[in-house]
Amino acid sequence: MEPNKRVTNTDIHDLNQRFEGLRAYEIVQWSVREFGSRVALASSFGAEDMVLLDMLARADARARVFLLDTGRLHQETYDLVDTARARYGIGIEVYFPERGSVERLMMEKGPNSFYRSVEDRKECCRIRKVEPLARALSSVDAWITGLRRSQSVTRADVGVVETDEAHGGILKINPLASWSEEDVWSYVRDNNVPHHPLHDRGFPSIGCAPCTRAIEPGEDVRAGRWWWENPEHKECGLHTKG
Ligand code: ADX
Ligand code: SF4
Repeated sequence: MEPNKRVTNTDIHDLNQRFEGLRAYEIVQWSVREFGSRVALASSFGAEDMVLLDMLARADARARVFLLDTGRLHQETYDLVDTARARYGIGIEVYFPERGSVERLMMEKGPNSFYRSVEDRKECCRIRKVEPLARALSSVDAWITGLRRSQSVTRADVGVVETDEAHGGILKINPLASWSEEDVWSYVRDNNVPHHPLHDRGFPSIGCAPCTRAIEPGEDVRAGRWWWENPEHKECGLHTKG
C-alpha cells in the first residue's frame, strides 16, 4: 500500500478476507513490512498490548510503539514501561496532554471531575487521551491496537482491519480482534511475556488509576473501567467511529 494512500472499503474487505486465515503474528509482520516507520502500536501496557509488543519486536526491532501518558496512570504501568524497554530494547514514544488544557480543567473543576457525570468524564478523556492520540497518529498511516471483540458490547463488531475515519481515514489494525482472553494469557505464558502486575490483583483491563478498579469473579472484563457508568458509555473516545 502506498504511503498516504486512502484505503477504500474494497481494500478493507479484501484485507479482512486475506487476514482471516492468518495468525496474529503474520498480520503484525504484514503491518511493519507494508508501513515501516509509518505504523505504530498504541500500547496501554495491558496484556493484549504486551502480546503485540512481543510480536512487533520479533517482526522488526525498529518498530514504533507509543503510550498516551494521561498523567493519571498507575505507578505499575510506568514500572512496566521500564521492564519493556529493557526486555525489547525498543524506545517507547510518549504523548502527554496539552499543558494549558490540563491546567484549566484542574483549576475550573478540580482533580476528580470525571466522577461527576459522563460528560465530565469524557471531557477529561478528551483532554488527556483523545487529543494526544490525534498528535500520535499524525505521523502514521496505520496504527495497531489490542482491541478484542469479546471485551465488551461496544467492541463486538471490531474488524481485524478498519479505516479510522476519526483520524483521517488511516488504517486501524486489530490483530487480536478474534482472540479470547484465554488466547492472550496462553501467549503470555508460552512466550514469557512480561505482564502488568495489576492483572494478578483482579484488574483485567488497565487504564487510569482513578478510573479503574479490580473486578469480582464472573463480572464483565471491562466492569472495572468507569465502574460507575453504564456499559454502553464505556468508551473514552480513542476508539469511536466516524
Ligand atoms: S480504552 O479506550 O478503554 O482506554 P482499552 O484500555 O480497552 O481502551 O485499550 C484498547 C486499546 O487502546 C489498547 O489495546 C491500546 O491499543 C489502546 N490504548 C488504550 N489506552 C492507551 C494508552 N494509554 N496509550 C496507548 N494506547 C492505548
Ligand atoms: Fe481522565 Fe479517567 Fe479518562 Fe483517564 S480514564 S483520561 S483519568 S477520565
